[in-house]
Amino acid sequence: MDKIQTVRINSLSYGGQGIGKLENGKVVFVSYALPEETVKIEIIKKKKSFAIGRILEIIEPSEKRIEPLCSAFGKCGGCVWQNIPYEEQAKIKESQVREIISHQIELKEEIFKPIIKAVNPWRYRNKIEFSYGMDKAGQIFLGLFRSNSYKIIDLDDCFLTDDKIKEILKTGRNFAKENNLTVFKMKKNEGLLRSLIVRYGFNTQELMINLVAANSDLPTSHLISGKNKIKEKIDDLTFLISPESFFQSNTNMTEVLLNTILNLIDSDKLENIYDLFCGTGIIGLFIAGKTKKPLIGIESNDSTILDAKENAELNQIGNTHFITGEVEKAILDISGNITANGLIIVDPPRVGLHPKALKVLTELKSATIIYVSCNPTTLARDLAAFVNSGFKIEVIQPIDMFPQTYHIETIVKLT
Ligand SMILES: C[S@@+](CC[C@H](N)C(=O)[O-])C[C@H]1O[C@@H](n2cnc3c(N)ncnc32)[C@H](O)[C@@H]1O
Repeated sequence: MDKIQTVRINSLSYGGQGIGKLENGKVVFVSYALPEETVKIEIIKKKKSFAIGRILEIIEPSEKRIEPLCSAFGKCGGCVWQNIPYEEQAKIKESQVREIISHQIELKEEIFKPIIKAVNPWRYRNKIEFSYGMDKAGQIFLGLFRSNSYKIIDLDDCFLTDDKIKEILKTGRNFAKENNLTVFKMKKNEGLLRSLIVRYGFNTQELMINLVAANSDLPTSHLISGKNKIKEKIDDLTFLISPESFFQSNTNMTEVLLNTILNLIDSDKLENIYDLFCGTGIIGLFIAGKTKKPLIGIESNDSTILDAKENAELNQIGNTHFITGEVEKAILDISGNITANGLIIVDPPRVGLHPKALKVLTELKSATIIYVSCNPTTLARDLAAFVNSGFKIEVIQPIDMFPQTYHIETIVKLT
């Protein structure tokens, strides 16, 4: 097989790569190539059933192709779709959700709702983790990982975050240089600086910077200056965020997500709310605040649960109970109490629901489930299990929380 080939790109994968066919009929994935383009590629990896190619030349560009905003686009692992207009990105995500789910379950067209587009396609992230790196000449870098690599791309801005980031990147890099600090090298397991994690409250203008160092002599969490948590406001609620806690990364769109969920539930009938994988309690507290119904939240991370409890107090939402535990275990204790008018919210990490949690949930005789997913492939698998157990999918609502990337958030209502 020729290492250099000319390929026509037909579609995009979930993951953002262009998909085409090699001369021998094998599927090839090509990063940054778009549908309806002809590209000259070099085959960089061969697997049994597919290959991976790298663009050498765009022979016939797509009419939709645009100039990326960021000069690091194509090298940096952060964005995959800056070369596609935002409107088009949203359309692609909408059809990927439909395709991935329809592959597993046959559903009526009207169940799939049009995607809710992002309020801001740029500068929307409230959290970003930059890593320190060093080249052979000892020059210190601060930026993001190259795609599929541990190499660092040195950055002076990132268009996904607030523009304060420029000053922070400059300061973070100079701080390392001026103090002659070393950079952690994973292969040798030596050196000091690892990463700089920035969190920003868009509605409070509060800023948190965590400098992560690889030195066992340092305490695990050491406050250098300011407070140990920042606040962010979403709708009429205020949330505390600690360094280790999960917090939805797109502030504006979280407000849209919460209101979309609220509109999907029947507040009058609602008896209890179970927020599984509750994080700092955002979804459960929002619904409990609006409906005044009791809330139980489950989350595996200790410090996140402490934030959730504080958030309930801060917003004066009573009748809440937050439990530290793994959903797949903790659910066994609560499933017997879930009544027909109970609302279960599940918002698992990308792997989706653990088989044990899925088993308990699918065996419920009646309840409303709101499944919030950040990965349509595991969502499709879990939805198939619900449908096979007699649940009905009422609404599938994609919502774009992550413009310029291939990531898709989807809200599903099951009854
Ligand atoms: C996608 S986040 C959702 C958080 C929250 N619903 C929100 O909107 O902010 C998933 C959360 O699940 C937690 N988690 C991961 N695996 C878990 C498990 N097996 N049991 C309970 N929580 C888990 C993570 O710590 C994280 O906070």
